[in-house]
Amino acid sequence: MRKDQILITGANGQIGSVLTQSLRERYGNARVLATDIRPPQHDTGPFELLDILDRQRWAALIDRYRVTQIYHLAAILSANGEQRPQKAWEVNMTGLLNALELARDRAIDKLFFPSSIAVFGPEVTKEQTPQEAVLNPTTVYGISKAAGENWCYYYHQRHGIDVRSLRYPGIVGYQGMPGGGTTDYAVDIYHRAVQGQPFRCFLSARTTLPMIYMPDAIRATIDLMEAPRNRIGLRSGYNLAGMSFNPAEITREIQRHIPGFTVEYQPDFRQAIADSWPRSIDDRAAREHWGWRAGYNLGRMTEDMIDHLRKKYQNEVVQQS
Ligand code: NAD
Ligand code: SER
Repeated sequence: MRKDQILITGANGQIGSVLTQSLRERYGNARVLATDIRPPQHDTGPFELLDILDRQRWAALIDRYRVTQIYHLAAILSANGEQRPQKAWEVNMTGLLNALELARDRAIDKLFFPSSIAVFGPEVTKEQTPQEAVLNPTTVYGISKAAGENWCYYYHQRHGIDVRSLRYPGIVGYQGMPGGGTTDYAVDIYHRAVQGQPFRCFLSARTTLPMIYMPDAIRATIDLMEAPRNRIGLRSGYNLAGMSFNPAEITREIQRHIPGFTVEYQPDFRQAIADSWPRSIDDRAAREHWGWRAGYNLGRMTEDMIDHLRKKYQNEVVQQS
């Protein structure tokens, strides 16, 4: 039997940096190769520079490290994608097709593709959006994720690739900053609050979106990838739910810990993106097929975020003095 040898693309990103660490704790440092188009800030294990558009180099790394699993995270997110639509399409689509082709050519055991709530458009039922809702996204990012899901399904049906995918909600975590999405405000707001600064929010107060706390997102990813093959009944993307809240609700929750915290609302182009997405997600298929259960709600997440960020900023002050 082959031993698992994992390659992660986009490993320096918001999710990649945490997922890399979690997989290394689970499988061992040497078994998890982190890759990204830019070098890492901290050296924590094997790392190689990789542009996912460079299929030759990607193939060479798979051969050199005897890779058996790929977590393909690298992408351009929703807000950045609207600034550079053609680039977003190229990176998100060609990058995924490279991953799928390599998975076939190099007999990769499992491939993970992160999809998103952005696959949904304004026509769907906004509350408890069902797994099988029509996919009519209005952003380049959403179009690339919806097409990506179809490509994953195709490679599974046609070539037997064991590809697994989650439609992540907006991800909130203290470890790193998000990379240009529409849900980024829900991370930035904690940083401002803990630093004693006011926050300017680019979404309006009542814009409710589906979100998830990083530990839940990481657990869902690893649980899905480690589930027995016969439990994976969907080869597009599983709906995944954590919690739902809007900027007014997260502000109130933060104010329970930091009473003087204030928010000013200045919606920009990201408002239209958020308005096109669901408010909450029906993730029954993930629960039934491979036992998914979210662990964090807004209250528990806020407590944990503030606790970690207070320590982070206190440490920085100590190091500077
Ligand atoms: P991120 O923007 O923080 O990180 C993406 C990483 O990809 C970056 O480190 C970047 O340097 C790298 N990258 C960009 N172009 C590249 C290229 N050509 N070759 C190699 N690397 C490249 O994103 P994230 O939040 O960590 O998201 C990871 C994945 O999860 C993405 O596919 C994203 O669409 C998906 N996702 C994220 C969220 C979220 O809220 N963070 C929600 C839904 C889905
Ligand atoms: N959080 C992501 C974004 O806002 C959704 O995929 O782009």
